[in-house]
Amino acid sequence: MTTNKTRIAVFCSGNGSNFKALFQAIRNKQLPAEIVLCLSNRAQCGAMEFAEQNSIATAHITEKQFASFDEFTLAMVKRLKEHHIDIILLAGYMRKVPDAVVSEFPGKMLNIHPALLPKFGGEGMYGIHVHTAVLEAGETETGATVHFVNEEYDKGEILLQRTVPVLPDDTPETLAARVLACEHALYPDALEKLLTLQKS
Ligand code: GAR
Repeated sequence: MTTNKTRIAVFCSGNGSNFKALFQAIRNKQLPAEIVLCLSNRAQCGAMEFAEQNSIATAHITEKQFASFDEFTLAMVKRLKEHHIDIILLAGYMRKVPDAVVSEFPGKMLNIHPALLPKFGGEGMYGIHVHTAVLEAGETETGATVHFVNEEYDKGEILLQRTVPVLPDDTPETLAARVLACEHALYPDALEKLLTLQKS
């Protein structure tokens, strides 16, 4: 029976390596949760492929498919409700989640960001841009942050954060790989923490 498990939607736009790490960790750690939906702004990407291979429902939803922004957000909320989603995990979702969707999931939506927020966050700070900015600023350490999502980019309360060293010969790509490896352990730990918080 899966009825007592927390039902998770992951929102992705790319490779989905965090999604894959979460999927594996839920099994390995035997967390009382299940990823039941992968929502993406891209019809085809690593994340959507992984979902299909693992019999997880997919939803390709973009603003362009709708006559208005309101219709777009309503469709997103409708799809989430159809799947009885309890928690949303943004995992490399490169779009701002509409406010109307955020307000439906207060305290129940997390994002992973590849830096030590509040540093190197905000609009335009995503993916490789973050690591380029970290190197340009001459930082000696960076990391990853899992935070609650609110209406402002990367501004919600921090749930968990872990540091990663910046090495003298790092390029944005080598740094991104080191941070991503950290994310793959951090996000499952953050999910576990959220599930524990919700129980208490
Ligand atoms: C991850 O590094 C994630 O933190 C970052 O995109 C990558 C997605 O990788 N997200 C952001 O920059 C959001 N601001 P993945 O698709 O392999 O999980």
